[in-house]
Amino acid sequence: MGEVAASEERKQSLVFAINGERFQLSDSDVDPSITLLDFLRSRTPFKSVKLGCGEGGCGACIVLLSKYDPVLDQVKDSSVSSCLTLVCSLNGCSITTAEGVGNSKDGFHPIQERFVGFHASQCGFCTPGMCVSVFSALVNAEKTNRPEPRPGFSKLTVTEAEKAIAGNLCRCTGYRPIADACKSFAADVDMEDLGYNSFWKKGETDEEKMSRLPAYNPHSSNLKFPEFLKKEIKAGADLASKGYHWYSPSSIEKLQSILLKNEADHGTSMKIVVGNTGAGYYKELQHYDTYIDLKHIPDLSVIVKDQTGIEMGAAVTISKAIEVLKDASDFPLESKTVFEKIADHMEKIASGFVRNSGSVGGNLMMAQRKQFPSDIATILLPVDAIVNIMIGQKLEKLTLEEFLGRPPLDSRAILLSIKIPSCELTEDISTETDTKLLFETYRAAPRPLGNALPYLNAAFLAEVSFSRNSTGASLNTCRLSFGAYASKHPIRARNVEEFLIGKVLSVGLLYEAIKLLETTVIPKDGISHSAYKSSLAVGFLFEFLSPLVNTPDQISGGLCNGDNSSILRDYNSKIKDNNDKLNGTKFPTLLSSSKQNIQSGDDYPPVGQPVNKVGAAIQASGEAVFVDDIPAPGNCLYGAFVYSTEPLARVKSITFKSRSPPVGFNALISVKDIPGKNLGSTSVFGEEPLYADEFAQFAGDRIAFVVADTQKHADLAANLAVVDYDKENLNPPILSVEEAVERGSFLPLPPFVLPQQVGDFSKGMAEADRQILSAEIKLGSQYYFYMETQTALAMPDEDNSMVVYSSNQCPQIAQETIAQCLGLPVSNVRVITRRLGGGFGGKSIRAVSVATACAVAAYKLQRPVRMYVNRKTDMIMAGGRHPMKITYSVGFKESGKITALKLDILIDSGAFPDVSIIIPGGIIGSLKKYDWGALNFDIKVCKTNRPSRSAMRGPGEVQASFIAEAIIEHVASTLSVEVDTVRSINLHTYNSLGFFFKSAAGEPLEYTLPAIWDQLATSSSFHQRTEMIQEFNRSNKWRKRGISRVPIIQEVTVRPTPAKVSILSDGSIVVEVGGVDMGQGLWTKVKQVAAYGLGLIKPGGTEELLEKVRVIQSDTLSLIQGGFTGGSTTSESSCEAVRLCCNVLVERLTALKEKLMEEMGTLEWEALILQAYQISVNLSTNSLFIPDSTSVHYLNYGAAVSEVEVNLLTGETTILRSDIIYDCGQSLNPAVDLGQIEGAYVQGIGFFMFEEYPTDSNGLVTANGTWSYKIPTLDTIPKQFNVEILNSGHHQKRVLSSKASGEPPLTLAVSVHCATRAAILEARKQLGSWNGIDDPNSTAFQLEVPAVMPVVKERCGLDSVQKFLRWTMGTK
Ligand SMILES: Cc1cc2nc3c(=O)[nH]c(=O)nc-3n(C[C@H](O)[C@H](O)[C@H](O)COP(=O)(O)OP(=O)(O)OC[C@H]3O[C@@H](n4cnc5c(N)ncnc54)[C@H](O)[C@@H]3O)c2cc1C
Ligand code: FES
Ligand code: FES
Repeated sequence: MGEVAASEERKQSLVFAINGERFQLSDSDVDPSITLLDFLRSRTPFKSVKLGCGEGGCGACIVLLSKYDPVLDQVKDSSVSSCLTLVCSLNGCSITTAEGVGNSKDGFHPIQERFVGFHASQCGFCTPGMCVSVFSALVNAEKTNRPEPRPGFSKLTVTEAEKAIAGNLCRCTGYRPIADACKSFAADVDMEDLGYNSFWKKGETDEEKMSRLPAYNPHSSNLKFPEFLKKEIKAGADLASKGYHWYSPSSIEKLQSILLKNEADHGTSMKIVVGNTGAGYYKELQHYDTYIDLKHIPDLSVIVKDQTGIEMGAAVTISKAIEVLKDASDFPLESKTVFEKIADHMEKIASGFVRNSGSVGGNLMMAQRKQFPSDIATILLPVDAIVNIMIGQKLEKLTLEEFLGRPPLDSRAILLSIKIPSCELTEDISTETDTKLLFETYRAAPRPLGNALPYLNAAFLAEVSFSRNSTGASLNTCRLSFGAYASKHPIRARNVEEFLIGKVLSVGLLYEAIKLLETTVIPKDGISHSAYKSSLAVGFLFEFLSPLVNTPDQISGGLCNGDNSSILRDYNSKIKDNNDKLNGTKFPTLLSSSKQNIQSGDDYPPVGQPVNKVGAAIQASGEAVFVDDIPAPGNCLYGAFVYSTEPLARVKSITFKSRSPPVGFNALISVKDIPGKNLGSTSVFGEEPLYADEFAQFAGDRIAFVVADTQKHADLAANLAVVDYDKENLNPPILSVEEAVERGSFLPLPPFVLPQQVGDFSKGMAEADRQILSAEIKLGSQYYFYMETQTALAMPDEDNSMVVYSSNQCPQIAQETIAQCLGLPVSNVRVITRRLGGGFGGKSIRAVSVATACAVAAYKLQRPVRMYVNRKTDMIMAGGRHPMKITYSVGFKESGKITALKLDILIDSGAFPDVSIIIPGGIIGSLKKYDWGALNFDIKVCKTNRPSRSAMRGPGEVQASFIAEAIIEHVASTLSVEVDTVRSINLHTYNSLGFFFKSAAGEPLEYTLPAIWDQLATSSSFHQRTEMIQEFNRSNKWRKRGISRVPIIQEVTVRPTPAKVSILSDGSIVVEVGGVDMGQGLWTKVKQVAAYGLGLIKPGGTEELLEKVRVIQSDTLSLIQGGFTGGSTTSESSCEAVRLCCNVLVERLTALKEKLMEEMGTLEWEALILQAYQISVNLSTNSLFIPDSTSVHYLNYGAAVSEVEVNLLTGETTILRSDIIYDCGQSLNPAVDLGQIEGAYVQGIGFFMFEEYPTDSNGLVTANGTWSYKIPTLDTIPKQFNVEILNSGHHQKRVLSSKASGEPPLTLAVSVHCATRAAILEARKQLGSWNGIDDPNSTAFQLEVPAVMPVVKERCGLDSVQKFLRWTMGTK
């Protein structure tokens, strides 16, 4: 080791604390590339940090990081993502995980307890991260000098509580209950605004409510910075291990020496790090020999404020920069405004936990070196920021523009600091003019609060003079920057600036400037949404300048109000108002008060009660054990798939890029290693191979399985695999349903899966007044985005058997597949499933191959093998929802009554059958929600060279819900009739319901949809709001609203399901069921039914019985015939199976109970069971519930009203409000069902509005992580979300009168899409009026799914600004 390093080497170890416990790592112990997440999960008992993405985009891995400042004697606490934080950077830090916040041994924290009571945890995979996020917000709020809050509350505000979790993803709950749990701590919360929970009852006073919440005392925080650490803290550490070096230099000079030394040791690779968050974007696929952490160099963390501006060291975090920029009261107004706006914009970068560790300098270096679409670079460009850099010994001062414009700096270049200069007015303020400095920043991104890269960002600085004697404003200076639109780096639109400067602003001038801008902001070729990005630039410039243009009010419609004298004075407030309105942030908080109206039943207590979810508390503390949390058995190996990147090719060989075997490599398993049949899954629907046998059938197909000593090494090795393909003499792959039709590539559909045609189509068409013929709709896929990716652990056991822990919705299918694959009897394979971190259909057949791959490797190597599939691979292989193409012809009366509908549907099943043959049934079952008169269809399930699609939540049904509404809308627009009228007129009568659904229609009284339809119109004030929206649309040009009411009818099928109930000697009860709990609350309902069922024999209430019931993991050798969990009915059928078991036990105990009662008068449950044990009553039983043929199918009803607002300049859609009424029969557990309804609905919003799942021309998925795949977040769900669960009373054929809730509500989310279409319709009508032509095509249009911002904007007119200006000028 060289001189410098030796002088740095104060310490050969790294000391930090985790949950108060001291950890010391010696130099040989630590590889500097190890992340905190890896360390926690592999080397500590703390498994609450979950790997959701590994790229900073989901929040599942969040910890609280505390740093002690010995000089100030202060502790700084912030949330950070452990998946990006490097362990070596933690010397002297204290880490708190969810277990440290609270746990089952030391007591749960009120956050965790409130999560339980607000029903805010379903699968629980996101929950620890959520809890730590809000914990961090609480800790920091208490440090402020705000006034002491009311007892029991914190200093946190509602807005802060919401923002604290805005970067965390949850795929189950729909966020509303999570937000409520967090807001319940806020000092300014209105208790009325907090939603359904198990703490209080309706009508209680605020004080009563408060007293029922788990107590929170801000002064008794369990967060104490460990004293031992305070003592040990020293400035830095230098770790040397296994040839790696970690340096934490404490001065620029030392940094220079290390760099010099590194240069001398040519060939060594080096990485400079601050927060290491850049690794979330630029994935680390290589090892570095040297790491240099810049955080300990004071010069790089210093902040200097003087009248010339604010200069910050490059290592200053974005959060710190925001804090400093917001505290600019010492500066003149102009500068203060600029600083504050920069800070506001920075708050939309990533999420809090990334900003807390990501540095400003790191961001700019990524922009400089790698063309990262940085926000910081764009917003600092117009303010003439200056940067100081160091290359070797040389220091340079550059403008940001020069810095960005240089060729990528080499790895020795260090960014030292960034200076944001103060802004001043250059013009003298004379009596003749008003002069003002204007600064605005913009970004259009899928999520308004951040955690999404922008499609385009912009920042404009202008000095404007308004002459009191003339008619307009003129620009003295003007700087316009645009970035993130796939340019090399942000640019200044100099030609536009020069054009504008010195001229009086007018509509004409603005128009010319915009024309010029169109030729300036041009994304590079091949970029998606490129025209949209250019139109955003226009929209932003228009938004910036139009308030200055002197136009009559009737033209401006809110953006330019024509009031000359106040133009400048009011500019900021006008702009703010516009921004707020346009950006959908006009609400003081993200969510407004929502109502949950529950009518629960008490016929079968405790069934019907909102019992808290089983295991919710340990989910919140992170103690709940998911498959990947099971401690690795000794000798465990790890696997990763090698997948095909070709859609159809012969696999000739697999080698590795590196000459030597990859680090940690153990084996490469492929088809030739399978001892039995090559099976990835087998079921009644068909089979698929485990590994490509000669041919890879699609991009993403499993070719082989790399086995290594750690998961990281297995992933890296799989990445290094090179597959040699051969495509000679092969037909081209089938990549679309059209090609499948041409080549006759279909899955055979057995008659039992084919739905029945309804009525006579020709007759219906003959009765029609009007017809639409051969219209087309196309629908794409959706990824499950379970927070826990696919995972399994396989362990060879004695007697040639295999035990497999699998996160799986159908353990039985996994068991059968593994047995065939290994050539073993089924009895030699035990598949165990305890809980899933979300499934949504993606962990049924698709999970089987993961379990099987681990089992095959374990069998061959005779060692345990596990795999946690990384997010990218998971997304590439998953397949997701079925894409389809629909061609329809429909006949209808002038009144809007539809008389006949015919559909030709082509479904893309992908390469293998999976469960695709059930999709036609799903489509037709849900399509029949309207009375089409006659319904005729031809459905083909196309076999293509794409990943196999599986039954994603609402399979076929959600698409059908859209198809039905698209047809209704088409009919309405053809007739120029209100869509709602056409919907109402085509709702089923009970008679037509029977005609379409036969016996599934049930009894007349069970058909609740007409009542729901009317009730929803009243409860949501649908008609009044429709009128208000018309008024709104008349008076607003750049924002349009739409409202829509849609019904659903969804048919579900009840399947046979087993259960086993055993009463143990102390009276405790163990239940096993066929159904798997994947967050949907199945265990909770089962527990309630067990308590109810056994309560029939228990003397006294059932409350204590509930506490005695324990539902345990499914184990395929303990309870057979488990089937699969899906289709929304497994909860109720598992409950019924349990009830049947309880009936048997009750019967067995009745005689004894009567005898004992007679003898003793009273009888305790424990005494009864003890006696039963003594006389050998059989207290364990199992049963297989088989629904009788008349009750297999039934219908679910609901309706939703949604109102949205569309920003015509950006295409952003804000969901203002959704109201749902859903019939749950007599809900088994209304809290669980409410969670299912809200969660499903938000997942549906994802499908309809956000989730693009594109592929390249080979069919290889390109949206393969959180950067590109955007599920809904807290800031994109309905602002107001009212849900009513209708208790429709007694249903004789249903399980304890209950109905399903898991999937049907998802299809209701189509209401948001329909409302968006309604808003766009208004935009198009307006555009038509600007065009001066009454074009009927303007109202007949299709809105694609998902209606992402570019799509919406395109439908509203990419050139709407230009058209408006031309219209204003009187030209066309
Ligand atoms: C999930 C997520 C979302 C994000 N969203 C946005 C967004 O919307 N808009 C946006 O603008 N940014 C976004 N970012 C980027 C984020 O701002 C940067 O990752 C962060 O600022 C980088 O800082 P860091 O300290 O973590 O850098 P590091 O990751 O430590 O370093 C990044 C790179 O810069 C180099 N480097 C760092 N500091 C210096 C220096 N002083 N001198 C020389 N080289 C240096 C490193 O060697 C490395 O190559 C996002 C990041 C994440 C993880
Ligand atoms: S796993 Fe770290 S943010 Fe997703
Ligand atoms: S509960 Fe949030 S992801 Fe499942």
